[in-house]
Amino acid sequence: MIRLKVNGSGRQFDGDPAMPLLWYLRDLLDLTGTKFGCGAGQCGACTVHVNGSPTRACVTPMKAVSGKNITTIEGLSPEGKHPVQEAWKACHVPQCGYCQSGQIMQAVALLKDKPKPSDADIDKAMQGNICRCGTYQRIRKAIKMAAGVNA
Ligand code: FES
Ligand code: FES
Repeated sequence: MIRLKVNGSGRQFDGDPAMPLLWYLRDLLDLTGTKFGCGAGQCGACTVHVNGSPTRACVTPMKAVSGKNITTIEGLSPEGKHPVQEAWKACHVPQCGYCQSGQIMQAVALLKDKPKPSDADIDKAMQGNICRCGTYQRIRKAIKMAAGVNA
């Protein structure tokens, strides 16, 4: 039996311990804000927080999250009003939107670690999150807005 917390709620899982966390979140808990992109840890669409650290859920087996706290995009703010989400809206960041929950989760973790990130900090933190629509300039602007630093 694997016990974990997802968005603050205690959960139990007695299925295959090798099953990816992403399958558990989407298929069993219906938390479909976290997306399946590459399935190989290469695109960042599936990024969630595990004990506060940005983590690729597609390559994280359930056995690795036993006793851990998971936060998904649904758990950031009950009404979608986390400061990073507000900055995303103000900057009209998303295009198709598919990569964006992963981008936001990565950005939230960055700002927790570095509340006033430099361009280099942003590049380094966000480099593994791919956007096929090329929204990178708006992502950078929104991160700076959320951080209160000049764009
Ligand atoms: S779906 Fe997990 S990194 Fe691409
Ligand atoms: S907004 Fe379309 S993939 Fe990023």
